[in-house]
Amino acid sequence: MSKQIGGKVAVVTGGGQGIGRAISLRLAKDGADVAVLDLKLENAEAVAKEVEALGVKAMALQVDVVDRERVVAVMDEVAEKWGKIDILVNNAGLGLFNPFFEVSEEEMDLQFNVNVKGLVFSMQAAASHMIKQNSGKIVNLASQAGRRGEALALSYCMSKAAVISVTQSAGLALAPHKINVNAVAPGVVDTPFWEAVDKKFAKLMDLPEGEPKRQAVAGIPLGRIEQPEDVANVVSFLAGPDSDYVTQQCYNVDGGNWPS
Ligand SMILES: NC(=O)c1ccc[n+]([C@@H]2O[C@H](COP(=O)([O-])OP(=O)(O)OC[C@H]3O[C@@H](n4cnc5c(N)ncnc54)[C@H](O)[C@@H]3O)[C@@H](O)[C@H]2O)c1
Repeated sequence: MSKQIGGKVAVVTGGGQGIGRAISLRLAKDGADVAVLDLKLENAEAVAKEVEALGVKAMALQVDVVDRERVVAVMDEVAEKWGKIDILVNNAGLGLFNPFFEVSEEEMDLQFNVNVKGLVFSMQAAASHMIKQNSGKIVNLASQAGRRGEALALSYCMSKAAVISVTQSAGLALAPHKINVNAVAPGVVDTPFWEAVDKKFAKLMDLPEGEPKRQAVAGIPLGRIEQPEDVANVVSFLAGPDSDYVTQQCYNVDGGNWPS
């Protein structure tokens, strides 16, 4: 694999497992030093070890992306230790699912706080360093859920549609600084996230566990579940030099699942 981003500094939020882990490892293979940020420090540390084993530098930092002061502090720490931030991947996120009449104010607040406000805080904090070098790449994790509504996923869909929107606004705001802001919209990805979704949907739909996931995968035109590496491949493109003329975009990486 070519070292297309050798010498670059990448920050991945929610890098401790699932898609964030795959992205951290892929950016490391591409040559970047990677700061792995997560709510769960132990998981971030484990991924940082895997990153180091690929021959680049790694650091693990605990952060709740909702905590704006802490987000600023960790971005400052990365920039101070490694001199700059070139790439930010906003991957930290959670999914809350309930029937329409049971969606509470607390659920909407938490969903929006983590998936949208935390992502904006992270963009602001990282971009304040990118601006100094007049370059940078930001990649946000949207979802097919941001492309259309789902009866049992109102608050999650709301938050991911907002991710697509803030990607456009931030892309325009940061374009004069040569900072590209793009997003990816994955489909049904084989991570601990979907294990939890399956359990929740099984309960809500009165189906046996495993059945919601089986049905979701059966509908994917490319005929298989998505792997975290499928997402990481496109993030690698958006973090690297081949996407220098791409900004404000959201790439579907979903096996053709939307629209279908
Ligand atoms: N799995 C899917 O099918 C799928 C599909 C589309 C989009 N996505 C999105 O991709 C991203 C990663 O998904 P995943 O499947 O790997 O999820 P996951 O639940 O397996 O991992 C999410 C990671 O984010 C961390 N995290 C959660 N809240 C955080 C916070 N407040 N601050 C810092 N870290 C936090 C978790 O600790 C965890 O390590 C999410 O934004 C998710 O919405 C996932």
